[in-house]
Amino acid sequence: MRQRGLSVAERTRRRLIEPLRRRMIGPLMARLGYDLTPAVPEWAHHPLSKREVDRLVAGAAAQLAADLAVAEVCAPADPEGLVRDFLGRIRSSPVRQKHGGNGFNGALQIYAIARALDPPVIVESGVFRGFTTWVLREACPEAKIYSFDPVLKHLRYRDPGTTYRSDDWSSFDFSGVDLSGALALFDDHISQERRLGEAAACGVRHILFDDDAPAHAIHGQGGPAYPTISMILAENRDGDCEPVRWVRNGREFVWRPDREGIRSAQERIAVAHRLDDMHRLTGYSPARLTYVRLKTP
Ligand SMILES: C[S@@+](CC[C@H](N)C(=O)[O-])C[C@H]1O[C@@H](n2cnc3c(N)ncnc32)[C@H](O)[C@@H]1O
Repeated sequence: MRQRGLSVAERTRRRLIEPLRRRMIGPLMARLGYDLTPAVPEWAHHPLSKREVDRLVAGAAAQLAADLAVAEVCAPADPEGLVRDFLGRIRSSPVRQKHGGNGFNGALQIYAIARALDPPVIVESGVFRGFTTWVLREACPEAKIYSFDPVLKHLRYRDPGTTYRSDDWSSFDFSGVDLSGALALFDDHISQERRLGEAAACGVRHILFDDDAPAHAIHGQGGPAYPTISMILAENRDGDCEPVRWVRNGREFVWRPDREGIRSAQERIAVAHRLDDMHRLTGYSPARLTYVRLKTP
């Protein structure tokens, strides 16, 4: 097959490095107990035949529309058009990440919700390589974006209209900025109870939390943000607050729910909807996003 339009690096990878990996280095590493896989983003793999593309688009669009309806977020007029538009965009994303951030499904959901809400201001906490900043910018070209991460050296995409800060978002002075229509994306491995309280305190009402997991599945996450929204909502605020305990990589974790904290977090929430993980529909890695709308003060 001809390989027109490929960069020299990509041609070298395909002709030289990939055969070497498959035949020699990969098997050697496997014998030593390591998996050596190419660091390409998952969206580099996709269906080619029209019928399969149409099925993927239709399934993802129907699920997005259903999720947005339950979340009480205005559904897109043309959900299939939105998914097709996103498919076209993501293939040219400047951030080609395989690990450490959102994949295709999470990015599509962030794109759909940001497009639907069309917020004038976006706060992003947890940037890493800048993939979700890119997604948010694609969805909302006019929005003022504030992106926070203590470590900004991994950025692969730096958005010219975004204010980047390495301090915590809760210490930033937003006076003079109207946050009432803002969208916040928290993907920073910080307690979601804490982030909810901070958002409420400065008038942010629309929030996307990444890495929301129920208590019985929180062991699946490294460096977890806990309590998560699911953990907060599952607690009976009038009952006994039993500790939640789990182990990951040999380290024990415990969350001791505090009745007052649970009560005030639960009372702030008008709508919380954990979005479908979309894996079954697209074949891409499961998303873990929850949309929360806080009550108007
Ligand atoms: C999972 S990554 C973010 C991935 C990104 N949103 C994406 O999907 O591509 C989590 C990031 O949170 C950052 N982080 C840790 N503590 C933070 C804090 N207090 N405020 C903001 N970001 C923080 C880490 O440095 C890391 O880059």
